Amino acid sequence: MRRKVIAGNWKMNNDLKETQNLISKLTSGLSMDNLNCDVIVCPAFTSLSEAHTLLKDTKIKLGAQNMYFETSGAFTGEISDSMLKSVGCEYVIIGHSERRTIFGETDELINNKIKKANLSALKPIFCVGELLEEREAGITEKVIEKQIRSGLMDISSEEMSNIIIAYEPVWAIGTGKTASPEQADEVHKFIRSLIYDKYGASISENVIIQYGGSVNNKNAKELLSKKDIDGALVGGASLKSDAFIEIILAA
Ligand code: PGA
Repeated sequence: MRRKVIAGNWKMNNDLKETQNLISKLTSGLSMDNLNCDVIVCPAFTSLSEAHTLLKDTKIKLGAQNMYFETSGAFTGEISDSMLKSVGCEYVIIGHSERRTIFGETDELINNKIKKANLSALKPIFCVGELLEEREAGITEKVIEKQIRSGLMDISSEEMSNIIIAYEPVWAIGTGKTASPEQADEVHKFIRSLIYDKYGASISENVIIQYGGSVNNKNAKELLSKKDIDGALVGGASLKSDAFIEIILAA
């Protein structure tokens, strides 16, 4: 039985004070002893250190939204795995569709980042998902297969057991349009079959595959009831403590 994982991707929202407020509402609103799922929050880089301090005695884990694959050096504006580790991150989102589409990240770059994150034991939340025109053209599986195969190139079985996959159809992100639970579950099953082909039964049965794209407190329960949907990567609704807590409780 896979334990569900709910992650909040706060994107480019919340300054330091707003981060402190949101964390304080989450920690006071959740009963840590009765949490039946893993919870991760991914604030902006500038708030990670403070978030780590505030979350220290709670069960909420910390993640970052991106990283670069080099160790250090002349990469203005970038951040490394060891920097993220040093402020308490355990997870890092890699290959989010906004990174792919707005910042031009390629499958190869994403693969390098996943490899580097693994080296420092940061757990990647590796995002994949098709565009609306790709779904309409009937090539969703082809697109997902390419993203999965390229992103996981040269990733060992041992490394794979640290990786969470997030299926986020791009047309559902921030649009209010969610994939139906059936549509999502179908792609999740397909992703699990790709992991089975490459890594075998045990890893494919244990890999966490989150759904992301307009998850909210109204639709979370039904999505999370599907057999192959092991959690959610939540954007907009994770910025509102009440809605995010409801999603966590639905898991
Ligand atoms: P959304 O974002 O929940 O606002 O659609 C999800 C994501 O981009 O991870």
